[in-house]
Amino acid sequence: MTEPTAASPSPPLRAVDLIVQKAAGERLSREALRWLVHGYTAGTVPDYQMAAFLMAVCWRGMTEEETADLTQVMVESGRQLDLSDIAPVVADKHSTGGVGDKTTLVLAPLVAALGVPVAKMSGRGLGFTGGTLDKLESFPGLRVELSVEEFRAILRRWGIVIAGQSPELAPADGKLYALRDVTATVESIPLIAASVMSKKLAAGATHLVLDVKCGSGAFMKTRAEAERLAALMVAIGQRAGRTTVALVTAMDQPLGMTVGNVLEVEEAIATLRGEGPPDLVELVIELASALLAAAGLAPRPEARERCRRLLASGAALTKLADLVAAQGGDRRAVDEPGRLPHAPLERPLLAPQAGFIQAIAADQVGRVAMQLGAGRQRKGDPIDHRVGLRLLRKVGDAVRAGEPIALLSAARESDATALLPSLLAAYRFSETPPPPQPLILSTYGSVD
Ligand code: URA
Repeated sequence: MTEPTAASPSPPLRAVDLIVQKAAGERLSREALRWLVHGYTAGTVPDYQMAAFLMAVCWRGMTEEETADLTQVMVESGRQLDLSDIAPVVADKHSTGGVGDKTTLVLAPLVAALGVPVAKMSGRGLGFTGGTLDKLESFPGLRVELSVEEFRAILRRWGIVIAGQSPELAPADGKLYALRDVTATVESIPLIAASVMSKKLAAGATHLVLDVKCGSGAFMKTRAEAERLAALMVAIGQRAGRTTVALVTAMDQPLGMTVGNVLEVEEAIATLRGEGPPDLVELVIELASALLAAAGLAPRPEARERCRRLLASGAALTKLADLVAAQGGDRRAVDEPGRLPHAPLERPLLAPQAGFIQAIAADQVGRVAMQLGAGRQRKGDPIDHRVGLRLLRKVGDAVRAGEPIALLSAARESDATALLPSLLAAYRFSETPPPPQPLILSTYGSVD
């Protein structure tokens, strides 16, 4: 009889070996990813090795299971919120970012008013896309930098809270994202999915709805890329035991009729009063009803109908006022948006020809809004909440030569003069109406 041999200890992990394995297209174990990510967060794995690893991921990809493992170890790098003592079902929503995207400001109060608490951590705008935190800060005094304890207390009391991403949650993502930004490794679908989902999973919601945008004004330029990202994020959420649904939605022209912080807040308030533009109303109803159906509140058609009725009644506006007041803002500004700060001047963009609007390039419009001061070129730049633009016509609308098609709200005459030609460059005109394009392109996760 032979003696049983002692199990040989596994060799110590080394970053260089993991880089070699990933560059060869091998699948890494959760343990290996944990060692690498936690080592990087703690500072024992240096930037240059993590950068090489990230580049290998960009080239060789990751399997779904591997991406879910990466997400999980990123979640484990920091604090994880458990909100189950507050409510058994807590909803969260994420958008991959677009131009004129004020959906959260409508959807969160609507869902909360239907009895599902909403706890959301959001980001700031960068480049041509806006951010929910900047829009919320249009309410003078409103605070978005909340401690985890304040976040929980506001959720418990009001059933709705929207705060900045806590640095205590998924700290690995903050460090990895900064490195990706300077090493050309942002554009990898597994890395984007793990980055987004690690923050969502750490924030403790049980039910997630994701709006994955595609088109000129979005991070994902093609429908195929957006659909890969949506499917992967839904799989990650479900593997982590969270009910997750995703809609892939068009972002070729700006959403709604406004771009710029105060202007978008006003449009969100109008939408909660039942006076929203058709595309924003459709998007809110589709996302909210998918979430409510996935949460088992009602079958999808009934969920849609309840959302539609509540929006039309204006009753969900109170929830926005609750949120504003709970976070230190003046709730009267919700009923009287005239109390919000406004730009001193408004200048029209005139149609140069008669015909139909064939396209309004969302990225170009976003850049104009940024140059007016509504957004930031670099992280940390100050912004002017008052400025932006109002679209008077959208794609498919007929126009007469010389009629106003948009209004720029500017801080200075020189800004308006300089930027009106840039805004015009976003437009394409045609003699015949363009074929209508759907807003909702596909759905992932179980919503029926
Ligand atoms: N947004 C994120 O949070 N992470 C990414 O990687 C890209 C966009």
